[in-house]
Amino acid sequence: MNKINVGIFFGGCSPEYSVSLSSASGVILNLDQEKYNPVLIGISQKGEWYHYAGPVEGLLSDTWLTSSHCTPAVLSPNRGENCLILLGQEGVSRIPLDIAFPVLHGGNGEDGTLQGLLELSGIPIAGCGTLASALGMDKDRAHRLVGLEGVRVPMHLVLEPDTPMEAMESFAEKIGYPLFVKPVKAGSSYGVTKVACKEHLASAVALAFKYDNQALLEENIPGFEVGCAVLGNRELITGEVDEIELSGGFFDFTEKYTLKTSAIHVPARIAPAKAEEIKEKAKCIYRALGCTGFTRVDMFLTPEGEVVFNEINTIPGFTEHSRYPGMMKAAGYSFQEVLSRIIDLGLQRA
Ligand SMILES: Nc1ncnc2c1ncn2[C@@H]1O[C@H](COP(=O)(O)OP(=O)(O)O)[C@@H](O)[C@H]1O
Ligand SMILES: [Mg+2]
Repeated sequence: MNKINVGIFFGGCSPEYSVSLSSASGVILNLDQEKYNPVLIGISQKGEWYHYAGPVEGLLSDTWLTSSHCTPAVLSPNRGENCLILLGQEGVSRIPLDIAFPVLHGGNGEDGTLQGLLELSGIPIAGCGTLASALGMDKDRAHRLVGLEGVRVPMHLVLEPDTPMEAMESFAEKIGYPLFVKPVKAGSSYGVTKVACKEHLASAVALAFKYDNQALLEENIPGFEVGCAVLGNRELITGEVDEIELSGGFFDFTEKYTLKTSAIHVPARIAPAKAEEIKEKAKCIYRALGCTGFTRVDMFLTPEGEVVFNEINTIPGFTEHSRYPGMMKAAGYSFQEVLSRIIDLGLQRA
């Protein structure tokens, strides 16, 4: 049987470059090597593309780029070529790609830009296409569409660089403190601040604008955050719902990747009927945003038992300890099987 060539994209021109290296390592190490042949495509923080033929350790130690295993490479938008073009010193060569699996987080990879190039080139995508990826990245537009489905979303105000301070302060008075300030398009909690009082508003807004040209002023939702792993194109399956237990503050970058004072419970410590409701809401959100392949849907569960949408992650963390594989594992699907299904779904869609 011929193996399927899976182009695995890692790195990327985004603050979440290092997170992508960990996720891509998780994907490579758990891919069914009998069925798939990983073709590694590394994107540097400057946005340069390389074919990487070295060991996975090069990703874990972030030394892949300095190694002799890298050859500059590009993807042609020409339909039907379906290959990675290597620009080696001895000349041009090609590696056919049966499917592309972007394992990039944040801008320039998770946001529809790479997906657009892949769609032009006709290479099937493992995961969401251009539209869902772009919507998933944009917290304002995602909220508006999900709200139309009758799912509660936090109240928010979109801030432009020239939004007057008085407008921010009067909206803040309306929703009350604490509140959240965050970039419209970012991830891994970069640029997110929980603001306790009016005096800290301006600095939080300035931080959010470091990551995007729009920011959100958002109502604080009490309770805790829950996640749901969704997989499928038309027929959807879900993992077990998980729960983030915080010991204060919010799920910031350090907590996400060290879990120093927080914990993740899978399954969530909630009534089975509530878990079912969350799974159904997650599927509804997935469909509303046009997701395909896989996505992690994040919501809050309030003390009154209300489910409130937070965001979707069209390329969630994919390390051995990440939430998406963890939720699927709790539902009986191994990491390897999840990856095989994701690739199959991408091929089916094409
Ligand atoms: N409206 C909110 N109410 C309560 N907590 C929030 C709210 N928005 C964000 N948070 C907290 O901040 C974290 C990061 O915010 P999020 O919107 O998920 O951004 P990111 O895309 O960076 O993960 C969340 O995991 C949660 O802990
Ligand atoms: Mg989040």
